[in-house]
Amino acid sequence: MKKLFLYGLFTLSVLQANGQQGAAPKFGLTYLDDSQPMEERIEDALSRMTLEEKIAMIHAQSNFTTPGVPRLGIPEIMMTDGPHGVNKELEWNSWNSAGWTNDAATAFPAMTCLAATWNPEISLRYGQAIGEEARYRKKDVLLGPALNIYRTPANGRNFEYMGEDPYLVSKMVPAYVKGVQQNGVAACIKHYALNNQETWRGHIDVEVSDRALYEIYLPGFKAGILEGNAWAIMGSYNKYRGQWCTHNKRLNNEILKGEWQFNGVVISDWGSTHNTDEAALNGLDIEMGTWTDGLTTSEKFAFNRYYMADPYLRKIQDGTLPLSTLDDKVRRILRLNLRTNMDRNKPYGSFTTPEHYDVAREVAEEGIVLLKNDKNFFPIPVGRYHKIVVIGENATRRLSTGGGSSNVKVSKEITPLEGLIEKYGADKIFYTMGYGSGPTSYGFATESPYNADSLKREALALAKDADVVLYIGGLNKNFNQDCESGDRLSYGLPFGQDELIEDLLKVNKNMGIIIISGNGVAMPWLNKVPALMQSWYLGSETGTATANVISGKANPSGRLPFSIPKRWEDNGAMSFGTMSYPGDSIRQVYMEDILVGYRWHDTRKIPALFPFGYGLSYTTFAYGKASADRAAYGENDVIMVSVPLSNKGTVSGAEVVQIYASQHKPSLPRPVKELKGFQKVFLEPGESRIVEIDIPVKDLAYFDDAAHAWVVEKDKFTLHCAASSTDIKSSVSIQIK
Ligand code: BGC
Repeated sequence: MKKLFLYGLFTLSVLQANGQQGAAPKFGLTYLDDSQPMEERIEDALSRMTLEEKIAMIHAQSNFTTPGVPRLGIPEIMMTDGPHGVNKELEWNSWNSAGWTNDAATAFPAMTCLAATWNPEISLRYGQAIGEEARYRKKDVLLGPALNIYRTPANGRNFEYMGEDPYLVSKMVPAYVKGVQQNGVAACIKHYALNNQETWRGHIDVEVSDRALYEIYLPGFKAGILEGNAWAIMGSYNKYRGQWCTHNKRLNNEILKGEWQFNGVVISDWGSTHNTDEAALNGLDIEMGTWTDGLTTSEKFAFNRYYMADPYLRKIQDGTLPLSTLDDKVRRILRLNLRTNMDRNKPYGSFTTPEHYDVAREVAEEGIVLLKNDKNFFPIPVGRYHKIVVIGENATRRLSTGGGSSNVKVSKEITPLEGLIEKYGADKIFYTMGYGSGPTSYGFATESPYNADSLKREALALAKDADVVLYIGGLNKNFNQDCESGDRLSYGLPFGQDELIEDLLKVNKNMGIIIISGNGVAMPWLNKVPALMQSWYLGSETGTATANVISGKANPSGRLPFSIPKRWEDNGAMSFGTMSYPGDSIRQVYMEDILVGYRWHDTRKIPALFPFGYGLSYTTFAYGKASADRAAYGENDVIMVSVPLSNKGTVSGAEVVQIYASQHKPSLPRPVKELKGFQKVFLEPGESRIVEIDIPVKDLAYFDDAAHAWVVEKDKFTLHCAASSTDIKSSVSIQIK
């Protein structure tokens, strides 16, 4: 009996120590009592805090943490970079690795790859897995997902984003956010807003119409907040309407906290805060990364010098700034605490589990896009060839590192070459680099230490009598090659790859190309190569996924989340020249307006090399005729489009059925068509299904900037059922009454 009793006590105290349910509120304090409503707990905590404690909470105490309230037992907030894996532990206030040995994480595929899956269900699993890793590592805020619109193929950070279409982004983001937050970890969607290039990101002032802002650049954020219920958002470095986005009155107060009623926290980007008054009044809640030693310049640990530290305190004390806005920030931060580290029911998380690697591999397999496949070049079954020659530095380069803040210290990363050797056997695979870049750098380009001629000679010699050549190149997350803080400088492949590919084709035409990048690249050799895959920075399971797709174990089902123009100038934003992209260093104007990506290519009749939504499979799908459930709809109705789909091939596979809408006689000019629905459909060989896709009529609206309202006009609309933005299978007309 006594033993049992002791055991009971022991369990209770273990539960309490672990922060699990059952812990009694200390001294009956409301803010610690999780049986009380959250808002009452917040008010209780707030009422106990001194002015200095409130000020301390709203700015950093280290590179990635804020202090909490030690006296009241309110925990510090621990943040970590994402969005592709939980970052390594850094020194308290520097970007240097802390040198821990327990922090090597699972690297998940880059956001571009996730977007290319067109599969919100797998986005949820991605979020759950990375959220579990963050929770295990005791992080309260994961700095991701990142979702700025792919405006040009130059943006160094496109690989961290989810493509050019606001609808696709809006379907993928909420799932990721929910998955992360199930772990008691806040997702921090970033970078709000209009941070569509890295060139001059710290100060460029973006001029954009309200229409483009609402139709193109905001929907992903809005969906992350209203549908994903994201608990945090990061303000971006750039300016909008002359004011830094991080403390931009319109973006934060009017739109985010006004129109969308966001009740979470706005966190600055690292060093994006510039002014105490604006930060105080324009909706910034937490200031991070303002330059103190360990970041860029100025004094060591000078956190009290932050704009939202002593200067703010003084202005409250002398009455220049109100207490009410400070209290609003603190309430939001307390809400963040209660949702994360003060939630006694949150799970413990888990780290580098087999399940996490499975998620990473599945996302990778589902995201790879097969762009060209003459004469069924792919798949290459095991045993078909004796000599498979692999050429290209990206076959061996570990690409989870590099690229800036999203880099991951990986517990394991299987390279494409390792994956291929594992798949086909070491006696079948022959490798040579072919070209070489420099060491991974950030903020400056490095020189290649290799002799390009001898690398090429070796590659040509090896390729000559190969049964098949697999070229694995692309960009590599080095500075100017898909990397934070610098855009790409040209559209062609770097390090002499275009010439190398042409020369290789002269000695062996049986060559498949695998481009690893987060951006479209020029492909002057396209007509000469039989097969091409667009791959991405795939993380831990790069090699396994790549080999599975190449060998046919996995059937590619990725679809491009952005258009690949033939030439840079064919991209809408870039076609208008310097003032549109990248601007004159002070200002830039989004001259293509709402015609971003395929909206531009379609409307201006400038065909892309590969259109948005495009991707092949190892099987073929047959579409029947699309139909709508009615002929006419009211504005609150939901249109159901049905289309019969069958898998006509001999392997199972997935098709992404896409619905694009065109309005007949809009009062304002509209793009030729816009994505309004999609569904990824998995079918066994010979299987048929009626695919049903719902489109709420309100989603057919355009944003009327004069009226500042979303408008659905009483008009005829055509709904195109398509396999890409240019491959329309059948169309159906409906009337909005
Ligand atoms: C990046 C953010 C990142 C932060 C912290 C900034 O430079 O823009 O995306 O989360 O640093 O590393």
